[in-house]
Amino acid sequence: MSNIDKEKYKTKIFDYGYDGEGVGELNGKVCFIPYTIKDEEVEFELTKDNKSFAQGKLTDVLEKSEKRIEPKCPYFGVCGGCSYQHMPYSEELKIKEILLKRQLKKVDFEGDVDIISSPEELRYRNKLKLFVGDSKVGLKVRSSNKICPIEDCLLVQDKISKAIVPISNFIKGNNLYKFIDTLTLRQEEDNCLINFSLKVDKDINYQGLYLLLGKDYGIFQTFRSKTKHILGLDKLVKEEYFLNLKFSPLSFHQVNSKVQNLLYDCVLSKTIGDSVINAYSGSGLLSGILAKRFGRVTGVELGEAEHHEAQELKEENELFNLINIKGDCAKILPRLEGDTLIVDPPRGGLQKEVCQAISQKNFKRVVYISCNSATLVRDLQLLQGYKIDKAYLFDMFARTGEYECLVVLSRK
Ligand SMILES: C[S@@+](CC[C@H](N)C(=O)[O-])C[C@H]1O[C@@H](n2cnc3c(N)ncnc32)[C@H](O)[C@@H]1O
Repeated sequence: MSNIDKEKYKTKIFDYGYDGEGVGELNGKVCFIPYTIKDEEVEFELTKDNKSFAQGKLTDVLEKSEKRIEPKCPYFGVCGGCSYQHMPYSEELKIKEILLKRQLKKVDFEGDVDIISSPEELRYRNKLKLFVGDSKVGLKVRSSNKICPIEDCLLVQDKISKAIVPISNFIKGNNLYKFIDTLTLRQEEDNCLINFSLKVDKDINYQGLYLLLGKDYGIFQTFRSKTKHILGLDKLVKEEYFLNLKFSPLSFHQVNSKVQNLLYDCVLSKTIGDSVINAYSGSGLLSGILAKRFGRVTGVELGEAEHHEAQELKEENELFNLINIKGDCAKILPRLEGDTLIVDPPRGGLQKEVCQAISQKNFKRVVYISCNSATLVRDLQLLQGYKIDKAYLFDMFARTGEYECLVVLSRK
């Protein structure tokens, strides 16, 4: 950071940045100021001053937008989780639509983007990661490694929410700040698994916490990538799409189950032909759903826990037409053929080898699901011989700066 001072500046917000932060102007440079709304006149302190842009911290709203509302969460503005609680959800969706369209314009797509909102604005998340340190348990402060202690997070489902204070008290009461690094809570239906990730190997007695939380919870502990079950529930179970599902505490799952199902329904409706490849397939739910509808389905997933869960799902549901390959898409994908290819990579996007393989192969359709429109667009620029037929925005992460997008590609 450079040129930091406590001087106050003023600007009018005229646009939005990638994360939904307002964009104003300072000495001829754009200045990104979170928690502001277009057309507002705001006062701010400078937090970063680079050659091409600056960043500011809102200190006062001098002329308020009529769209401004009181945030429901007391930590809003400090905690780095949410970006849009100062405006109605409908406004947030309009901004996200503008941001995605702006990205897609870079690949000459100027068609409509279908917006699929989250049925729930709050209490939709089935997963929460809390950070421990500095005698605090909480979420990260925006653009910082500091911890913002919390007693609740309005985005998470009820069982997760109810466990936050007992867990914080347990860590405080037993002075465990030095030993625990992070903890992850995951809820399905009325059950919740908690995994404590340790910095050092330590025998921790979780009995008191478990007695307080009760039979709907399960406690796990991870040290150096080894996870062991300690007390209570050892898995989460659920039935969805006529499939029996089991969830472990650490494997990847979409965080907003209702939007996930809308996303998967869309993928099903866009899948054509008989043979389908589901690359970056996670814990295999989408592969399982596809296998109920299509002749031959191949899932490719690198993660150990995810692959294991996908295999359990296949066996439990007797999906003999589904093959789950454990491996790196960069190595496996060049060897596979199919009618429809589905890719759903992590935020970093597709590997170069995967883009090359897609360009060289003759998939009738490619469905690209992405949680990062910047890497989506970078990859689309690398894919040769395909055009975008349709684009969607699925608001998997309501009230935060993130969203999921899906583009349907066919051969030119
Ligand atoms: C965004 S998640 C998608 C999961 C799945 N499609 C779903 O809907 O739950 C990305 C997945 O890609 C996996 N992954 C990351 N890098 C990979 C790679 N190089 N090859 C295969 N899988 C990878 C991760 O473990 C994660 O499960």
